[in-house]
Amino acid sequence: MTVPKILVCRRMPTEVLKRAEAAGKVELITQPESDGERAPSRSWVLSNLPGCAGAVICLSEKVDASFLDAAGPSLKVISTMSVGYDHIDLPLVKSRGICVGNTPRVLDDAVAEVCLLLALMVTRQVPVATRTVREGEWPNFPWTPTCFMGPSIAGKTVGLLGFGNISQSLCKLLVPFKPKRILYTTSRERKFDREDKYFASLMRDGFPVDRIGVENEPEPIELAKKADLVFVLVDLNASTKHIVGKKFLEAMKPSAYIINASRGGTVDTAALVEALRNNQIAGAGLDVVEGEPGIHADHPLLSADVRDKVALLPHIGSGTTETRQAMADMTMNNLLGALGLREEQGKEAE
Ligand code: DGY
Repeated sequence: MTVPKILVCRRMPTEVLKRAEAAGKVELITQPESDGERAPSRSWVLSNLPGCAGAVICLSEKVDASFLDAAGPSLKVISTMSVGYDHIDLPLVKSRGICVGNTPRVLDDAVAEVCLLLALMVTRQVPVATRTVREGEWPNFPWTPTCFMGPSIAGKTVGLLGFGNISQSLCKLLVPFKPKRILYTTSRERKFDREDKYFASLMRDGFPVDRIGVENEPEPIELAKKADLVFVLVDLNASTKHIVGKKFLEAMKPSAYIINASRGGTVDTAALVEALRNNQIAGAGLDVVEGEPGIHADHPLLSADVRDKVALLPHIGSGTTETRQAMADMTMNNLLGALGLREEQGKEAE
């Protein structure tokens, strides 16, 4: 019996695949240890794919025709260590009968925490406050009754663009901050699970968590008009690219903030920079940006007239130790599962 070859594009915090290798179930193709966790070059990926039954990837590995052609007919499964899969051409992969695994649910709480973190950072003026301290300017800005003031979440309207698992985890974190209400949009028929004990108790207590009613405008624009804090938590696809664009930003209140922890492409960066420059909105908290990680010091979001209104993080949403381990385990188990080699499956068969 030939042992399936697996291309592992990144070192990940898990032992699952190493155990499978030690048990002789798979043969792993990995980058040299010295390359650490860095993304492999495209040429390394393409030259090592031929003959592989599986590929373990991250967000930076684009799965397109050239990837699949390089792999050839042996490829049975692609497993990505991410919940998002906009880097994978799904229809094409499906048309070739290849399975795809991703890592939903295990990162909901971690990403929700970063959404809350960004909301607090940007409303409480942390970008300008920390810059003031770091640059030795604190002595010039002693405490005054109005220094570094910003709005509280209490009493405000929260808007969630998208109402998937991460949005629902975020709701649970936000409610103790006492927002006035939470509005959401969703493209799916599924609203939140009304059987969920937490939401059931919110409803019973009359806390308003509502899908925004469609009035004259599309749902996102209605939400933009009403929300004080907008969280972007949609998948990136053709219909959500630049869902936050010029029109959306113009509809927002000048006192409102936007938080994005989904994918950079959901927000039109040029339009956002303009909106911040023109005081059309109050600020932005971003864990993701179009074109990341190529954001250099001269990026417009870091320019002197914009940077103090922006909390910018380098895509750390899922980055708790526990979450990244769970994602890595799930990535490897998805791969082994698709090949019929999962540890538990082996045990069941005994
Ligand atoms: C994902 O999983 O899609 C995140 O963006 C990275 O954790």
